[in-house]
Amino acid sequence: MKFHPISHLSGTVTVPGDKSISHRAVMFGSLAQGNTTITNFLPGADCRSTIQCFRSMGIEIEHSGTNVTVHGQGLHGLRKPETILDVGNSGTTTRLLSGILAGQQFSSVLSGDHSLNSRPMGRIIRPLSEMGASIKSLKGNGCAPLQIDPGTLHGIHYLSPVSSAQVKSAVLLAGLYGDSETKVTEPALSRDHTERMLKSFGADITSIVHSDGSASASIFPCSELYAQDICVPGDISSAAYFIAAGLLVPDSEILIRNVGINPTRAGILDVCRNMGADITFVNKHTDQEPTADLLVRTSKLHGTTIEGALIPSLIDEIPMIAVMAAAAEGITIIKDAQELKVKETDRIATVTEGLQAMGADITPTEDGMIIRGGQSLHGAQINSYLDHRIAMAFSIAGLIAEGTTSIDSSHCVDVSYPTFFETLRSLSQ
Ligand code: S3P
Repeated sequence: MKFHPISHLSGTVTVPGDKSISHRAVMFGSLAQGNTTITNFLPGADCRSTIQCFRSMGIEIEHSGTNVTVHGQGLHGLRKPETILDVGNSGTTTRLLSGILAGQQFSSVLSGDHSLNSRPMGRIIRPLSEMGASIKSLKGNGCAPLQIDPGTLHGIHYLSPVSSAQVKSAVLLAGLYGDSETKVTEPALSRDHTERMLKSFGADITSIVHSDGSASASIFPCSELYAQDICVPGDISSAAYFIAAGLLVPDSEILIRNVGINPTRAGILDVCRNMGADITFVNKHTDQEPTADLLVRTSKLHGTTIEGALIPSLIDEIPMIAVMAAAAEGITIIKDAQELKVKETDRIATVTEGLQAMGADITPTEDGMIIRGGQSLHGAQINSYLDHRIAMAFSIAGLIAEGTTSIDSSHCVDVSYPTFFETLRSLSQ
C-alpha cells in the first residue's frame, strides 16, 4: 500500500467495534446460560479466531457481518475440542481462553501464528499454576503452544508485576471455577472491560483503585452467568488513526462517531489535549461503556511526557502517538512502556525503525522512546513486520511525509480493522 502527502481530509467515519469488548462478548456469551446477541461486533481476524475456538468447543455461534448470536451452554457447557485451538495472531484470545480452559474437565492445546507463538505466556502460566491449573508451554520456552489439562482451582490473591488486562482477565476467569475468592492486584489499572462485562453477566465481581494508583479486582466462583444483549462501542484504538490524521493533515476536519471513551482506554485523548489538539466531544453517552463522537480539527502539536499510570490506558496507541510526536514541535518522552516489547512486534524497535527511515529524530530506550519532533518527514519503505498497528500508524505518517511511503504486508490490518484503507480513502475524496 502506497501513500503520498495529502492537502486535506474531511468527512465522518464510524470505526468498527472494539476488539477487546468483542472478544469478551463471545467468550462470556459462550459461558452464559441462554442466547447472547452482539451488535457492532468487530469482524477482524483476532475476534474471528475467538469465535472459531468456541465453535470448536461445541458452542453454536451465528456470525453475519457485525451481528453475532452466541448460544451459550453455561459455565460447564464447553466440550473437548477435537483439534488444536487456533488462536491466530490474538494475544487476548490466548490469554483469556487459557484462564477459562484452566477450569475445564478436559485437555486442550492452544497455538497461534509465528508472532503469537513468540509472545510471553509465563505471565499467565505462573498465576494459573499457583491456582492449581495444569498448564505448560509445550516447547518449554514460556510461549504457546500451551497444553492445559484438568486441574482443581483454588482462589488466590495474585500481585501482578505488570498492568495487563489480559493477565488480570485470565486469572479472574479461572476464578469463576475456583473454590473461594480470587483477587488480582496490578500496579496501575488496566482496561476494565472484563470487570464491567462479567458483572453484567451476573458474576460476583468488585474492583477498586487504591490511593497509590494500584488496582484490585476480586471475583467469587459462581454457579451461572446469564446471557446479555451487547452493543459494542467503536474501538478507540482504531479511532486513534483518524484522530491523528485529522490533527496532522492540513485543513482537516473529521467526525468520528460512537467511540468508546472508557477512561481505562482513553489515555490518547489526554495526550492529545496535552499536545495542544483541537478535539471536541459531542453526543456523550454512557451505557455499560461510555461513548462519544469526536470532532477532530487540524492542530499545531507540541511535545509532551507520557509515563506511569497513563501508559496502560494508551499502550496500543503508542505507535500512532510516536508518529504525532515526530510531527510535533519539541521533545516527547515516553517511559514506563516496556510492555511495548511484547506486543505483536517489539514496538519500541519497529516504531524506531520506521520513524528513523522517514527522517525523524528518535532514540529508543529500555522502556520507551525519546522523540525530538519537528524534523520534516520523508517517504520510505516501511516494514510492518505483519503488525497491524505499525501498518496503520505509518499509513497516516505517509499522508504528511514528502514523497512516497510504502507499507509492506499492509493486509495485516485485517487483524483489527479490515476496512481501514477504504475508510481512510473515503476521507480524501
Ligand atoms: C488487551 C489488553 C492489552 C492490549 C491488547 C488487548 C485486552 O494487552 O495491548 O491489545 O483485550 O485485554 P495487555 O493486557 O497484555 O497489556
